Amino acid sequence: MTNKLYKQKILILDFGSQYTQLIARRVREAQVYCEIHPFHMEVEEIKSFAPKGIILSGGPASIFDQDAPLAEKEVLELGVPVLGICYGMQFLTQMRGGAVTKALDREYGNAQISILDHRDIFSGVGTEGDETVWMSHGDRIEEMPEGFESLASSKNSPVAAMADRERRLFGVQFHPEVAHTPSGTRILKNFLFHVCGCEPSWTMSSFVRRTVKSLRETVGNERVICGLSGGVDSSVTAVLLYRAIGENLSCIFVDNGLLRRGEAEEVIDLFKGHYGVDFHLVDASEHFLERLKGVVDPEKKRKIIGHEFIAVFEKKAKELGKARYLAQGTLYPDVIESVSFKGPSATIKSHHNVGGLPETMNLKLIEPLRELFKDEVRQVGMELELPRELVMRQPFPGPGLAVRILGEITRERLEILRFADIIVQDEIRSAGFYEKVWQSFAVLLPIRTVGVMGDERTYENVVAVRVVDSLDAMTADWSRIPYEVMARISNRIINSVKGVNRVVYDISSKPPSTIEWE
Ligand code: XMP
Repeated sequence: MTNKLYKQKILILDFGSQYTQLIARRVREAQVYCEIHPFHMEVEEIKSFAPKGIILSGGPASIFDQDAPLAEKEVLELGVPVLGICYGMQFLTQMRGGAVTKALDREYGNAQISILDHRDIFSGVGTEGDETVWMSHGDRIEEMPEGFESLASSKNSPVAAMADRERRLFGVQFHPEVAHTPSGTRILKNFLFHVCGCEPSWTMSSFVRRTVKSLRETVGNERVICGLSGGVDSSVTAVLLYRAIGENLSCIFVDNGLLRRGEAEEVIDLFKGHYGVDFHLVDASEHFLERLKGVVDPEKKRKIIGHEFIAVFEKKAKELGKARYLAQGTLYPDVIESVSFKGPSATIKSHHNVGGLPETMNLKLIEPLRELFKDEVRQVGMELELPRELVMRQPFPGPGLAVRILGEITRERLEILRFADIIVQDEIRSAGFYEKVWQSFAVLLPIRTVGVMGDERTYENVVAVRVVDSLDAMTADWSRIPYEVMARISNRIINSVKGVNRVVYDISSKPPSTIEWE
C-alpha cells in the first residue's frame, strides 16, 4: 500500500485512538500526504516508507496495561522527527527511559495550558496567555526522559508537552487534532513544516496528475470495467479512468428499479451524453422487482439485490468481452478499517456492490481512490469538473429505495416514495441544508393511519423524514432543522403525494438506531 508516488510522507502509527483518522485529516488538510499504519509496523517497512516525520497517535490503553500496544523502540531512533500524542507521548517517555505514572484523576475535556517555549511546535502559539486544549488521559509524565525539556504545563500535567530538540522528538499530552484545541492545527502544521521540513504539496490537482499517469502505465492497452452507481465515488473513479485511458474504459450502470426519481437519466446524460464514455445501461428493473415480490424481511431484500446485481453485472461484463481490470471506488477509511489497529482480520466493508466479482471473473482490481478521504474525493471531482450536484451528492445505499420502503416493494409504493423523496430533497436544498447534513431522505412506512381531507375520512400511508448529521456514518445525530422547513416538507408531501396523509420526523440518533430504517 505504501505509495511511492509521493516524496513527502508522514507516517501515523495507530495505537487505537478514536481520533487517529482525524490526525490524518489534519495532515492532509495541511497538504501533506500521510498514511495510517498499525503501531506494530516493522522498522524495515518504515524505513522503506521513508517518512519525513512520524506521528504516534493516542489510544485507549494505559502504558501500564499488560498488553499495552508497543511500537518498536527503533522507531524513535531513525533520525526522523516524531510527535507523540497522548498515549503516543507516554509510549515515547517510557521507551526513552522517563517515568509515567497514573494521574490521580483522569483528565478529560478542556484544559488550560501555559506554554513555556514558543519555538518549533509552539511557534506563534500561546503568546497571548494560556491556551485551551483537549485532554483525555489517565496517565501522565512524572519524569521526562534524558535530553527532554518541558514545553508546556497544565494544572494536572506538569509536563503537558515536551521535546528533545536534538533528536527532534516531541510529545503532547493533549489532542491537537480535535476542534476543541483551537491552536491544534497550527501546532500540527508547525510540526510538519518547521520540524519535519515538509512543504504543502499534496493537492488534488497533483493527485489527479500523478494518478492519471500511473493509471496509464498500469493499464496500458487493456480494458477496464467500471460499475457506475450514480454516487460520488464511482463517478469520480470513472472520470479519472476516462481521463487516463479514454475508450479503453467501459462503464456499466445497472438500473435496479430502486433508484430515486431522475437518477438514471442524470447518470446517462453525464457519462454518455457529456463525456461520451463507452457506457452500457442495463435496465434490470423488471427483473429486480419481480425477484423482490412479496419480500418484507430487510436482510432478504439486501441479499436478493446484492445477488442479482452481481449476476446482472457479470453477465453484461462478459458480453462486453475481454477486460483485464475492474475499477472500484474504495476509499481510505475502508482501507484503514481493514489494516489498522484491529489488525488485518477486520475485513473491508462489503458495501461496494461489486464485492466478490474480481475473483469470479478473474479480473484485477483497480482502486484509484483508495488513498483518499471522502472530502478529498469531492475535491478531485471538482478538479475533474464534474457537476457540483454530483460531487456533493449525499450517500445513497446500494439497495436503494428498497431499504426505505418498509414492507413489500411494489411499483405503486416506489412511486409514492419517489415523489415524497424529491420533495424532501427540494426543500432541504432550498433551505440551504443539503450540503450541511449527512443525509436527508424519506421513508415509507408499512402502516396506514386515519386522517381527514375536506369532509372525507382518509386512511393512508405515513412517510417518515430522516435528516442526520454525521462525520463518517459510524455515529449520527438527527439534524435540528428548523420547524419551518419541516412544516414545508410536511405540507407539500401531504398536499401533493397521493396516498400519504401523515408525515413524521425521525428523532433517533445512531447508535442505537441506524441511519437507514432497514
Ligand atoms: P446505517 O443505516 O447502517 O448506514 O446507519 C450507514 C451509512 O451507510 C449507508 N448504507 C449503505 N450504503 N450499501 C451502501 O452502499 C448498503 O447496503 C448500505 N446500507 C446503508 C447509509 O445510507 C448510511 O450513509
